[in-house]
Amino acid sequence: MNKKKRILTGDRPTGKLHLGHFVGSLSNRVKLQNEYDEYVLIADVQALTTNFNHPEKLSNDVRQVAMDNLACGINPDVTTIIVQSMIPEITELTIYFSMFTSVASLERNPTIKQEIKVLNLKGNVMYGFLGYPVSQAADITVFKADLVPVGEDQLPIIEQTREIVRKFNRLYDKVLIEPKAMVGTVGRLLGTCGQNKMSKSLGNVIYLSDSSEEITSKVSKMFTDPMKIKLTDKGHPDKCPVHMYHKAFNKDTGIIAEIKKDCVSGKLGCVECKKRLAAALNEFLNPIREKRRIYEEAPQKVNEILIEGTKKARKIAVSTLEEVRSAMKINYFKG
Ligand code: TRP
Repeated sequence: MNKKKRILTGDRPTGKLHLGHFVGSLSNRVKLQNEYDEYVLIADVQALTTNFNHPEKLSNDVRQVAMDNLACGINPDVTTIIVQSMIPEITELTIYFSMFTSVASLERNPTIKQEIKVLNLKGNVMYGFLGYPVSQAADITVFKADLVPVGEDQLPIIEQTREIVRKFNRLYDKVLIEPKAMVGTVGRLLGTCGQNKMSKSLGNVIYLSDSSEEITSKVSKMFTDPMKIKLTDKGHPDKCPVHMYHKAFNKDTGIIAEIKKDCVSGKLGCVECKKRLAAALNEFLNPIREKRRIYEEAPQKVNEILIEGTKKARKIAVSTLEEVRSAMKINYFKG
């Protein structure tokens, strides 16, 4: 009997993963993978909510997201990586959940509201998009996860999962587990624009797979404290996105303290501060790039990891659905 608690988390494959994914969820999943029975879902069906008109893009993005996870230190011998569309039980459970989840509760969900705004979907919100919290609840509960590491923006979705679980267990039978969310140390990383969260649709992203030239160029264009114009102006590091990145990615806490002191006193200029950030980011990304290269050169190995992981995970999903159907009394010809 495996007594470890279970983690389920995932990413939408809408391109490569970025630093925001890392601080929100990826760093926790790497850290906790030996302590928990861990599953990482590549949510390709959820990605269709915004890619239904070019589904051919998913095939590459599924592999990119798998490689980003592996490059950051997800060990496929201990963590199971799953392709969502290959688990039909998730789709089935989504339908059952959708019978008792009100449209109003979805329309009220702050994550959904925010995404409708950012993606400019108003007046053209698809049924599947509005319902993605329901399918995400199925992702999590079909594997009976206890813990879900996510970025801060996803908290309302996990809250809705908890409500769905309580309602299912109350209506039918106590089959499902109410999961807890876990947010990373930096819950919400601002994008390079310094205003909104890091997000591909806003074009303010640093990818985990960016080259050192791309890092230098993106960091040099970053916004800093608007009150610090000349080198000798006294800066406000606590309001500066560049300083926030130092805190998130510079491993040398002594240097971070020194940067802060010299910024406040007007000794350190933004250009030099950004140079140091680019160097720190490159140092952080170097081992990730190296590991990614190994997987990029072995696409067959990546395929195997996904196929094997999905096969293993599906057994759990099949067994949960048997319990679900039995709780709902729709297993007419069994036992
Ligand atoms: N919605 C998540 C995101 O956009 C991705 C996701 C899909 C997920 N299924 C999940 C996260 C299950 C946690 C658990 O980042």
